[in-house]
Amino acid sequence: MELNILTICYLIGSVTFILGLKMLSNPATARRGNLIAATGMTIAILGTIFLYKDDEGKSLHNYGWIFGGIVIGGIVGVLAAKKVKMTAMPEMVSLFNGMGGACAALISIVEFNHLTENFATNGWQVLTGENLFSHLLTIYAGAFIGCVSFAGSIIAWGKLNGSFKDLTFKGQHILNLIVFFLIICLIILLLTPLFADNYNFFYLIPLLSLVYGVLFVLPIGGADMPVVISLLNSFTGVAAACGGFLYNNQVMLTGGILVGAAGTLLTILMCKAMNRSLGNVLIGNFGGGNSAAAQGGSGGQYKEISVSDAAVAMGYARKVMIVPGYGLAVAQAQHACHELEKLLEEKDVEVKYAIHPVAGRMPGHMNVLLAEADVSYDKLLEMEQANDDFKTTDVVLVLGANDVVNPAAKNDPSSPIYGMPILEVEDAKLVIINKRSMKPGYAGIENQLFFQPKTSMLFGDAKSVLQQLISEVKNL
Ligand code: TAP
Repeated sequence: MELNILTICYLIGSVTFILGLKMLSNPATARRGNLIAATGMTIAILGTIFLYKDDEGKSLHNYGWIFGGIVIGGIVGVLAAKKVKMTAMPEMVSLFNGMGGACAALISIVEFNHLTENFATNGWQVLTGENLFSHLLTIYAGAFIGCVSFAGSIIAWGKLNGSFKDLTFKGQHILNLIVFFLIICLIILLLTPLFADNYNFFYLIPLLSLVYGVLFVLPIGGADMPVVISLLNSFTGVAAACGGFLYNNQVMLTGGILVGAAGTLLTILMCKAMNRSLGNVLIGNFGGGNSAAAQGGSGGQYKEISVSDAAVAMGYARKVMIVPGYGLAVAQAQHACHELEKLLEEKDVEVKYAIHPVAGRMPGHMNVLLAEADVSYDKLLEMEQANDDFKTTDVVLVLGANDVVNPAAKNDPSSPIYGMPILEVEDAKLVIINKRSMKPGYAGIENQLFFQPKTSMLFGDAKSVLQQLISEVKNL
């Protein structure tokens, strides 16, 4: 009877994960989707803790450890999530993902110890043939993928918060390949009867995998970090699915597979939005920001616009399009932006937002930011739709965005961002660019848009410029 209730708990967990994921794909339902999936996860966890029974009919007993871990982890998680700034979100995601990888690897190590203890007392016949092979393979795969995900995520976290720098050296990719093949060879050898009495070599798998995780992420350029985090996220999912196989736990298996698949799809979509292959991201060392142009604007004449002129241009326009970018997140200017939007609408100006899929530093960064300020979802235009709309737009206000509006992506085959789809803001009648200087964005390249005749620069911190614009528009 209890087992049946547990199966129903797992079914509820699996269904809510799928529903939650589906709802996460739309900003209007994302928050609810997250809550639904979390509720399903809670049901599955509580069901396991209180209803699980092993083959001998024994329930879990170590409740002190279990609830101690849940309380400590819960407090740390809630505090971290409440304290984190919007701009530091990718760091936190990376750290939490690393913890998931570590848990999956620890499961493999613990299960390996159980298995070898069992061998010592009952002999090898406890698990035989195919069973032994698949059990060991799952343990090795979980340890390998989990450790790579843990070490890689910690390095990604450190790089995003500035603790670690990109590290590249000659022969790096060859070294990475050698370590990778060493791990694979070790796994194959440990699966053969040859190593039946030398199972302690197993511990080399997590050890080498940690080294591989560090080496794998260290050379990757900062701008590519969100792609790597998403890839590592999918690794964690696969490692957790290995745990699901080991424990024959359906909900862990479903959750792991869903995370693995979602992470892989997100990685592919991000690469597509930047027009880069995954291989190029992993070995390309893009976006270090070391080029000459990275030091500041080097060529051409640009013109500036005053806050009052910008306010007049927008206040008397028919249609204004706002292009938010990473700088808007840095300045935490989303609320001021929404206030300006409302003021302009009171003056019968149509206001929309053009959202580039990789604006900011994480998937959906701009949607999350604007949702925080209660900007209505129907005002957010996706790139294709926005590009059609620019032709009929009077004023485009670019707020702290740079690479996502850089025409070099269309016109300059030598540019590192060539081929990346961009927001074609130059199709509008007037383009006002707000940023603090002529410095480039994350790709470290100059932006010719700033020097075009219909472009005017409005220098300053996005929040303070928006506040000035608000008071000017109020006085129109
Ligand atoms: P960026 O190209 O990084 O440009 C942001 C601009 O904001 C900078 O040029 C900076 O210029 C300005 N800025 C910084 N602080 C500001 C402030 N307080 N007030 C006003 N402006 C400020 O940003 P983007 O256009 O959003 O493009 C995103 C980049 O990240 C792309 O290269 C993309 O490929 C990369 N990337 C994104 C993702 C995801 S998933 N979003 C994933 C991987 C890579 P100043 O310093 O002169 O102010």
